[in-house]
Amino acid sequence: MNQEELKKKVGIESAKYIKDGMIVGLGTGSTARHMIEEVARRVREENLNIVGVTTSNETTKLAKSLGIPLKEIDEVPFVDVVIDGADEISADFQGIKGGGAALLFEKIVASYAKRVIWIVDKSKMVNYLGEFPLPVEVVKYGSENLFRLFEDKGYNPTFRMNKNEKLTTDGGHYIIDLHLGKIKEPLALSDELSKTVGVVEHGLFTNMVNVVIVGKEEVVETLV
Ligand code: 5RP
Repeated sequence: MNQEELKKKVGIESAKYIKDGMIVGLGTGSTARHMIEEVARRVREENLNIVGVTTSNETTKLAKSLGIPLKEIDEVPFVDVVIDGADEISADFQGIKGGGAALLFEKIVASYAKRVIWIVDKSKMVNYLGEFPLPVEVVKYGSENLFRLFEDKGYNPTFRMNKNEKLTTDGGHYIIDLHLGKIKEPLALSDELSKTVGVVEHGLFTNMVNVVIVGKEEVVETLV
């Protein structure tokens, strides 16, 4: 089974966690897309009655085109479950997200969710985080100085680009990717980044996930 098939499999599996009446956080990325398509199928064919809350403009566009009823995050007091992809998940269930530049809205929706489910193919499961560049969303004002600060700390930063320009996120910020190799202490790094002035949010999702659904060859493994 190739990677795309594994993503589809976990996407479909994860949609089983969604029940009538739920407020559902809809993640971003190629794995989440499969889940969203399955949710839309259930809305259409099984009269599943849910409200979606999206985590990016891209997901809003997709969910609208598929006819999923939506509300804004500010129109709901909480989210029953959010289902999203991830870029890396360590053995102790810490994660890196933001490969699709949606980490800020993804983390906001996850923070209001009663249950967080990540769906990944097996390539995302790692011993240590950090081989995948860690995205840090930063305010544009002062971002070159922040970049130099990260350089001085040896974090090997690069600005996320879109064609020849710095990419602007849905929230109107830049992303600086940190090439760290191996993150030995994710909680300490998360704290440090959160306290850095100019950092809006970062892609370390620590102690946030409740269920991980992993696509592995012929089986789908659910880790709690
Ligand atoms: C977007 C994300 C995605 O969930 C993450 O990048 C995984 O994407 P994919 O399922 O396409 O591999 O965090 O910001």
